[in-house]
Amino acid sequence: MSDQATPGTAVVTGASAGLGKIYADRLARRGHDLLLVARRAELLEEVAADLRASYGVKVQTLAADLAAPDDLERVAQAVAADPSITLLVNNAGLSTLAPVAQTTAAQLQSMLDVNINALAHLSRAALTAFKSRDRGTLVNIGSVLGFHTLPISSIYSGTKAFVVAFTRGLQDEVAGTGVKVQLVLPAATATDIWELSGVPVSALAEGTVMAAEDCVDAALAGLDLGEAITLPSVNEAKLLSAFTDAGAALFGASQTGQPATRYLATA
Ligand SMILES: NC(=O)c1ccc[n+]([C@@H]2O[C@H](COP(=O)([O-])OP(=O)(O)OC[C@H]3O[C@@H](n4cnc5c(N)ncnc54)[C@H](OP(=O)(O)O)[C@@H]3O)[C@@H](O)[C@H]2O)c1
Repeated sequence: MSDQATPGTAVVTGASAGLGKIYADRLARRGHDLLLVARRAELLEEVAADLRASYGVKVQTLAADLAAPDDLERVAQAVAADPSITLLVNNAGLSTLAPVAQTTAAQLQSMLDVNINALAHLSRAALTAFKSRDRGTLVNIGSVLGFHTLPISSIYSGTKAFVVAFTRGLQDEVAGTGVKVQLVLPAATATDIWELSGVPVSALAEGTVMAAEDCVDAALAGLDLGEAITLPSVNEAKLLSAFTDAGAALFGASQTGQPATRYLATA
């Protein structure tokens, strides 16, 4: 059990590598006990052993393939069942960067399964528990490719656009409660995801790739600042409000109940 004075247990998905491994380190440093999730059990155990030794926190591991329904259900139940859990970082994700016609059905499905399905189900499990206790923080990792699509990122961008829309809705749902929801939108960051995606990090333009440690530290600084949406690499914060304002204005302009006049001219 946790009380308000202790940071409680943080669940990090995709904690065997990349951003998730750094999140695990930073959250342990902040005094969180941890539940680490990923498929590679041995790597998870290595991460856990290091963190126990470095920070003296309790670290559990749960080897699970979040694309597999039974495994996802096990993780969701673990999140729902442990009242000490105060933080979930939905970080696990993957990408294949290629035109859709050059993407296998299995690659497409695994992006939908992990980036969308697992994130949505684990968000639901965590928020149900957090709302019942009026305490808890959900962090969903999206991407700047959630609001911009490249010819090789149609599927990945589509999955991350889901994360953007879904998480912004969740933020409205918890407004005025003790529950927080942060949407983190990294740009290119040096992790294994690039090699796995088919585009090596060395192919990216010089000066555009952030270190994984910097990305997580900025994301946590954004969380500490109370940001709803954190863009670790974007200096011009007003671009975000211009983007969200434009979306709201476009939605508002659609509420006419009539075809726009340009479609009437040719009728
Ligand atoms: N790096 C970037 O440039 C960048 C930019 C924007 C957003 N992001 C997002 O940041 C998040 C972390 O990515 P990363 O760059 O750290 O990638 P990464 O280094 O490839 O790590 C991905 C993590 O997700 C786990 N994972 C993948 N498939 C899984 C599955 N089926 N079940 C359970 N765990 C799974 C992996 O663990 P196992 O292989 O052990 O399962 C690994 O721990 C992702 O959501 C990604 O989309 C990354």
